[in-house]
Amino acid sequence: MNNHSIKGTESLKEIPVYPQKYLSHNFELLLKGRLKFFQDVFDQGNELIRFNLGKRKIVLLCSEKAIHHVMHGNYRNYEKRTAFNMGFGSNVFTASGDEWTKLRRPLVPAFSNRILEENFSMITNITDEYFRDQFKKIHREQVDVGLFFSRLIFELTTNVLIGKNLSDQFETIHSDLVFSNVYFNEYNYRFVKNPTLYKLLYAKKDQKFKESIERINNLVKESLFSSTSLKENSVSHRMMSLFQSKDNTMSEETLINQIKMLIFAGYETTATTLLWFTYFLSQNKNLQERIFEEICSHELHNIDDLQSLKLLRSSLLESMRMRPLGWAVARYAIENDVYNEYQILKDDCVFISPYLIQNSEKYFVKSGEFVPERFLNVDIRDLGAKFLAFGHGPRRCIGEDIGFTQLMVASRQLIKMFHIEDLHGDPGLNPQSTLMPKKRYFVKFKNRL
Ligand code: HEM
Repeated sequence: MNNHSIKGTESLKEIPVYPQKYLSHNFELLLKGRLKFFQDVFDQGNELIRFNLGKRKIVLLCSEKAIHHVMHGNYRNYEKRTAFNMGFGSNVFTASGDEWTKLRRPLVPAFSNRILEENFSMITNITDEYFRDQFKKIHREQVDVGLFFSRLIFELTTNVLIGKNLSDQFETIHSDLVFSNVYFNEYNYRFVKNPTLYKLLYAKKDQKFKESIERINNLVKESLFSSTSLKENSVSHRMMSLFQSKDNTMSEETLINQIKMLIFAGYETTATTLLWFTYFLSQNKNLQERIFEEICSHELHNIDDLQSLKLLRSSLLESMRMRPLGWAVARYAIENDVYNEYQILKDDCVFISPYLIQNSEKYFVKSGEFVPERFLNVDIRDLGAKFLAFGHGPRRCIGEDIGFTQLMVASRQLIKMFHIEDLHGDPGLNPQSTLMPKKRYFVKFKNRL
């Protein structure tokens, strides 16, 4: 990899290369597991480090400053090239450059504070009702935490985003969304080149993916264009008003793609973040009691009241530090670039891992310990690229406030109603497109009331 110099820039430093132990890095990745492999690369102690994975030339960024450069300072030189485009067409999550600006701009008003405030009582009402209803239905001795929160977040997501209650479609759409997520993840690691073998391995999955996307498409389309009106102040209602206005330039296809991607980006991330938080709570009875006291001494009438729940907020952030759902994000260099005298080359895949950064001793002292107090009175936006759970720079998560409000409301209700008791310990990490548990995760909900 030493013949990579940009012409006329011979004085620049070459990015150090990860010492390869086997002939193929793919083999190394398979042997160690994804997270261990990236941890090993990160632990070499370089600010940037280079290696190959399949056809991809990867540069792993290991410093906050380098990440800030790519995600903020020179973000326009770095584009997304992701499998998420398949079936989702052009949308705010996957687009880059001017196309991205065109897609992000009309969404911004739909994610304003005012809209969130107007949705707040709906979020709390649905959550209260959900907990009351599930209280009667679930087997509290052994609760499947992932499923429990997926149902709730599906209901919240469809109400807030689509403006309709579609909880009767949970089973089908949930399994379609989960399948699509796994599909995207596997797609990125399809190293088989032989066409016959490729077809044999993947044809069935490709077909199932097509069918899943078709169902999600129909759900969004029917909801948007059916005769029953959309809830006012839902994101879709805003988007439809724009779509129906006389200056509209957005096609129907783009409108559907955008809503589809919002559901995809916001649903599982929020539900699985709640799973990880439940895990940390189950390990810390004292913390549960302290948060319970905080909840009891602060009533919740409007969105501003959430700000009094400081320990709950910091505990959620600490959980997101240790288990960021977007454990890795990637960008591709459009043109050659220079950072701190290092050459990043056109088409390099620049890899950023919120998981590695946020669990590194360099940025968080006692990084292996769950210490919510580190976030008390800290505005996460002041942490720059040290805290990446919602991304960084202009492409930061557009649904951060909606997502975090849902996390606060749902976990408040959980702690208010139940003691959470550990059953099987740490479920382990499974780094798919998002940071999933290795196995289904169960806890016991013991009534408080
Ligand atoms: C706990 C919940 C959530 C987490 C952890 C999360 C995390 C993230 C992260 C890390 C990114 C940046 C990805 C990158 O730079 O490549 C991102 C972007 C994004 N998120 Fe979220 N997210 C959450 C909730 C939501 C919600 C509720 C929505 C929508 C309702 C949403 C919509 C989006 C969109 C559209 C983008 C792309 C923004 C752009 O590129 O302009 N997210 N999210």
